[in-house]
Amino acid sequence: MGPMDGIRNIVILTGAGISAESGIDTFRGGGGQSGLGLWEQHRVEDVATPEAFARDPNLVLRFYDMRRAAVQEKLPNPAHDALARLDAKWKGGLLIVTQNVDDLHERSGASRVLHMHGEHLNAWCTWCDTRSRWTGPLVERPPCPVCGACALRPDVVWFGEMPYRMDEIYAALRSADLFVSIGTSGAVYPAAGFVQTARDLGVRTLELNLERSQGSEWFHETRLGPASEVVPAWVDEMLG
Ligand code: APR
Repeated sequence: MGPMDGIRNIVILTGAGISAESGIDTFRGGGGQSGLGLWEQHRVEDVATPEAFARDPNLVLRFYDMRRAAVQEKLPNPAHDALARLDAKWKGGLLIVTQNVDDLHERSGASRVLHMHGEHLNAWCTWCDTRSRWTGPLVERPPCPVCGACALRPDVVWFGEMPYRMDEIYAALRSADLFVSIGTSGAVYPAAGFVQTARDLGVRTLELNLERSQGSEWFHETRLGPASEVVPAWVDEMLG
């Protein structure tokens, strides 16, 4: 009996590290194209808070317009592809909870994906509270396709805002047999706390990351290496 025997329900948390080898910058530390974390090039409080949006909406909209354009040029890497393979073949419950706002899990074919921090390719109308798929810029204040109000903002969860669908995530953790964290620094709550919740619930925990993260000691097991290598290897193991 290996440690992965008897596993039925799996919750996978992904972070910026899984998209780094697709050329999307991570937020903290190396990875991505420039080797600089995104938050080292921009102050978080200037672009990723509701206060920043109220103070200088053009700056914030332009920042997200650039990011939205950039992700559409990127392609999924072998780590996304491996998770899509697991999603297609895994007979038990599977949920990919991603902190990422790119759509690389979906583009590699994964179907069970929950975006807890929102999505670059959605615009949220703050007037009629609907979300519309959005691939172009927002800085010109285009009208909402549903109500016509010029009140669209990026559908991205900013610091100080509540992540999406937390009830569903905790419900999935309660019925999980295995929690796997991939490519996240464990710096941002509530996602950083999922491993502790899982431990409290008696769920087995595994971390796949380039380097040890802030929460590494909480995991039963940590496997270090680039996501494009360690994720396909783990998926092969799971699928036998
Ligand atoms: N393979 C695996 N892991 C990698 C790779 C790689 N090729 N490159 C980098 N990493 C790891 C880094 O070592 C780091 O631990 O990915 C992690 C990225 O951490 P962050 O940049 O902090 O990204 P993330 O954890 O997703 O950030 C969480 O913070 O700013 C907010 O809302 C934003 O969703 C984001 C949240």
